[in-house]
Amino acid sequence: MKKLVYAALVAATACGLSSAFAGDATKGKATFVGKGCWQCHGYEGQGGSAGPRLANTQLPEDGLISFVHNTNGIMPPFSEKLISDAELSDIYAYLQSRPKPADPKTIPLLNLK
Ligand code: HEC
Repeated sequence: MKKLVYAALVAATACGLSSAFAGDATKGKATFVGKGCWQCHGYEGQGGSAGPRLANTQLPEDGLISFVHNTNGIMPPFSEKLISDAELSDIYAYLQSRPKPADPKTIPLLNLK
């Protein structure tokens, strides 16, 4: 059964239907800016003075969606009326598409003996 589901996913991806399963990073960037997430988290989700880094978050997608709708800490919650699950899936794709930090092995100063 697992194999069948996997085969269906591969087939769907090959047919260009992957957007049914994952967000759209380009739309996600526009939503991240349009809904004001950048004001606390930075345009690239790199983190700002008011909010932590979100780029390449370790949170699973449903964890991010649930956090944004339900948080009650310093960050104000954004209800489903303000931002939909689909829009948050797009934001998730955008955040996962941000460049990763440099590998320390590629930084000469850190490799001096
Ligand atoms: C007013 C500032 C502010 C805005 C606007 C804001 N955030 Fe946040 N966000 C925070 C702060 C501060 C935290 C740290 C947790 C806390 O203290 O509430 C946070 C935490 C998060 C986290 C959890 C990060 C983690 O690793 O636990 C996610 C995900 C997140 N924000 C997404 C968003 C998204 C998406 C938007 C736009 C819809 C947004 N935030 C808008 C301030 C903000």
